[in-house]
Amino acid sequence: MVKPIIAPSILSADFSNLGCECHKMFKLRADWVHIDVMDGHFVPNLTMGPPIISSLRKAVPRGEKDGQATHFFDCHMMVANPEQWVPEVAEAGGDQYTFHYEATKDPVKLVELIKSHGLKAACAIKPGTSVEVLYPLAEKLDMALVMTVEPGFGGQKFMADMMPKVEALRAKFPNLDIQVDGGLGKETIGVAADAGANVIVAGSSVFGAKDPGEVIRYLRDTVENAQRKAKAKPKPNL
Ligand code: DX5
Ligand code: ZN
Repeated sequence: MVKPIIAPSILSADFSNLGCECHKMFKLRADWVHIDVMDGHFVPNLTMGPPIISSLRKAVPRGEKDGQATHFFDCHMMVANPEQWVPEVAEAGGDQYTFHYEATKDPVKLVELIKSHGLKAACAIKPGTSVEVLYPLAEKLDMALVMTVEPGFGGQKFMADMMPKVEALRAKFPNLDIQVDGGLGKETIGVAADAGANVIVAGSSVFGAKDPGEVIRYLRDTVENAQRKAKAKPKPNL
C-alpha cells in the first residue's frame, strides 16, 4: 500500500526566506517540499531554477530517519527541454525530477537519464493530456503526477474532472505513487483522496493558512481514511 505523502509547494512561500520556510514545513511534518521550476516557455511564468535548489540544499541538508531519506526535494520541472536540466538538478541536490509528458519526445529515454543521475523519476500530465499515455511508462516511474490545474500559477481552482484519470491509474497500478497538484486544500482533498491520490501538493492552502501544521495533518488524515475505506471495500469479482 502506498503511503500518504504531503508536499507543500514553496511557490506560495515567502521567497525572501525560502530556507526557513522549508525548515518550517519539515518541522510541521511535511514529508517533502515541492519545488516548482518554470522557464517561461513551457508555462507562461518564471520561478526558480537549479541555483535556488542548490542554495536550499545547503540550508536544508539531507538527513535520515528510520532508513528513509529526509528533507526530500520534489522538483516539478515545468520546462520546455526537460533533458537539459537533469544534471544541474541532480548536482543542486534535488531528489525527484518530475518532467512533463508534453515536453519530451522520448519519455522512456528521459526516465533512464534521470535515474542515471541518481534522481527519482516522475512524469506529469497537463489537464488536456490523456491518462493513457502514462500506462506504458508507469512501471518505470517512481511517481505519476496528474495536474489538477493548468500548470503555471498557484492559487487556481481545483479541477475535479481530472479525478477519473486518478481513479484509472490507481485501478491499474495499486503500488504507484500518484500525485495531484493544483487547488488542493481542506475543501478538495476528499475527492482526490477517494480517487486514489496519495501524494498531495498544496501551496496556497498551506502557506496561506493561520495554522499550516493543522492543514498538513488534515490532508494526511484524509488520505489515510480514504485508503482505509478503499481497503475495507469488497473488490468486485471480475
Ligand atoms: C502550479 C504548480 C503548483 C502550485 C500549486 O503550476 O505546479 O505546484 O504551487 O499551488 P496551489 O496549491 O496554490 O494550487
Ligand atoms: Zn507543482
